[in-house]
Amino acid sequence: MCGIVGYTGPREAYPIIIKGLKRLEYRGYDSTGVALQSSTGLKVYKKKGKVAELEESIVGKDLHANVGIGHTRWATHGEPSDRNAHPHQSASGKLAMIHNGIIENYTQLKKELVSKGYEFSSDTDTEVLLNFIEEIKKNNECSLEEAVRVALKRVTGAYVILLLDEDNPDTIIAARKGSPLVIGVGKGEHFLGSDASPMLEYTKEVVYVNDYELAIIKPDELILKNLGNEKITPYVQKLDLELAAIEKGGYEHFMLKEIFEQPQTIFDCLRGRLDAEAGTITMSGIQQYADQIINANRIVMVACGTSWHAGLIAEYIFEELCRINVEVEYASEFRYRNPVINKGDVIIAISQSGETADTLVAIDNAKEKGAIILGVVNVVGSSIARTSHGGAYTHAGPEIGVASTKAFTAQLAVLTMIALKVGYMKGTISQERYMHLLKELNEIPEKVAWTLKQSDAVKAIAEKYKDARDFLYLGRGYNFPVALEGALKLKEISYIHAEGYPAAEMKHGPIALVDKDLPVVFVATKDTYHEKVVSNMQEIKARKGMVISVITEGDEVSTELSNDVMIVPEADEILAPMLSVIPLQLLSYYIGVAKGCDVDKPRNLAKSVTVE
Ligand code: M6R
Repeated sequence: MCGIVGYTGPREAYPIIIKGLKRLEYRGYDSTGVALQSSTGLKVYKKKGKVAELEESIVGKDLHANVGIGHTRWATHGEPSDRNAHPHQSASGKLAMIHNGIIENYTQLKKELVSKGYEFSSDTDTEVLLNFIEEIKKNNECSLEEAVRVALKRVTGAYVILLLDEDNPDTIIAARKGSPLVIGVGKGEHFLGSDASPMLEYTKEVVYVNDYELAIIKPDELILKNLGNEKITPYVQKLDLELAAIEKGGYEHFMLKEIFEQPQTIFDCLRGRLDAEAGTITMSGIQQYADQIINANRIVMVACGTSWHAGLIAEYIFEELCRINVEVEYASEFRYRNPVINKGDVIIAISQSGETADTLVAIDNAKEKGAIILGVVNVVGSSIARTSHGGAYTHAGPEIGVASTKAFTAQLAVLTMIALKVGYMKGTISQERYMHLLKELNEIPEKVAWTLKQSDAVKAIAEKYKDARDFLYLGRGYNFPVALEGALKLKEISYIHAEGYPAAEMKHGPIALVDKDLPVVFVATKDTYHEKVVSNMQEIKARKGMVISVITEGDEVSTELSNDVMIVPEADEILAPMLSVIPLQLLSYYIGVAKGCDVDKPRNLAKSVTVE
């Protein structure tokens, strides 16, 4: 949540910051602001709304500066407004700060400051922390760096903060705990960002700042310290990311681009790992822990949102192929529930961003209790990836649309490969079935490409049903979590209320919702449960509900029963979700667009949820 950008060096800071903020808007877009430091002093411009709105509002202002910080906000404390927008300025006006995270004990800190006569111009926890830092600096007559260190020892919660100080005009002070911070190292210049996207065209050398680290950044110097004031040698890594990967490439929206990238992203995910002819799956980050996985009492999948749905599908796959007990947990519940974790439990954390706060804390807790943590993560170098003992990257490339699409299918591809590898090593899957599934998995990118060719038909269905008030999504077995995912996608993109349900469970309550105005989307590809699902379709038809079905090519029975169908090619039922989810992604996209929604930046959402 919230995107932060910073620059210090010889270039004009403002254009770098604005471009960087546009790339980070997926993290929040409630308000935007910049603070610029030049010989004329500190200038702060901020505004409720998206980056473009700030840009328009400050045309003609003095934007010249070689040092600056910028923020795009996802509101936590205080409504989205100009006054709550970051950067905030300290009481003296000399310090400016941006913040991503939540200061949990801000009420207590605020009380202390109010008793000393401080007044606040916003409702944010950020302004409190900033004045707390200034108060320490004033009282202890110390440097800003020292004051930040002292203040952060009193703070509970999560943060990345960037500070400018009028008295040290070329320096940015940064610190992190629980929210991401990347520093780009250039020649005589430094860049900062919540991820590496703001610095891509300037440098490929980056430092990922760790929790409880503080950075003092000047154009030609980067000093990293811990909160105990000991120096740490920055670990400079090479970035493997190209600019084209974060641009729309001719598509109207990132979401559509990302949906259509899936044949390639799944292929990239399998490439170098799956050899269908040789019958091998190479995953070194899994191989290292193969014995522990094979002998685990249970596997716990921990995730949120769409990644949680991938975990649910993986539960079915692991239980089928590996005969290991699997539990799937919402990270936000798991972390607070005092769960029973025994040495030898294997936790699989699934996350696109690798920064989801709940998932991160959940695995930290489990790690302390002796569990093996494996990460299935998309963003390379992210916090969850670094906290995990092992795991596998999904290699889907940057996912910028707030609604997760290509990350989901890549997660399924990785989780399926892990299950196949473990099942085969454990002997719970026959050679024949193993070879068959490897071959089928290898064909999935092609089948996804075929499915995407049906997009015009899905668009027509979207037009027809776009004005419905509610939708019901139903599926059984491997397709039940796909129904949940379809409903989530529709809700977040089009703001239409949608429920996902197990098709058979529907009779125990939700069937009461069915009438002639309710579109019911069946995820009904040919599998073990297909006949049962067809009976469920009959039950909806009998109550005059409108049936839209995702079906396997050539399924005449379902076609006959459905008002509209979306077709996918035949596939083994274990792999079917990677196909059946595609029309549902397209359906929500086209309905969202038809309703005039901002599909890449749906209201109230942010891509990377770094607050709990
Ligand atoms: O980055 P993560 O995969 O950990 O994110 C988890 C959820 O926040 C995410 O999947 C969210 O539900 C998406 N908006 C779904 O499209």
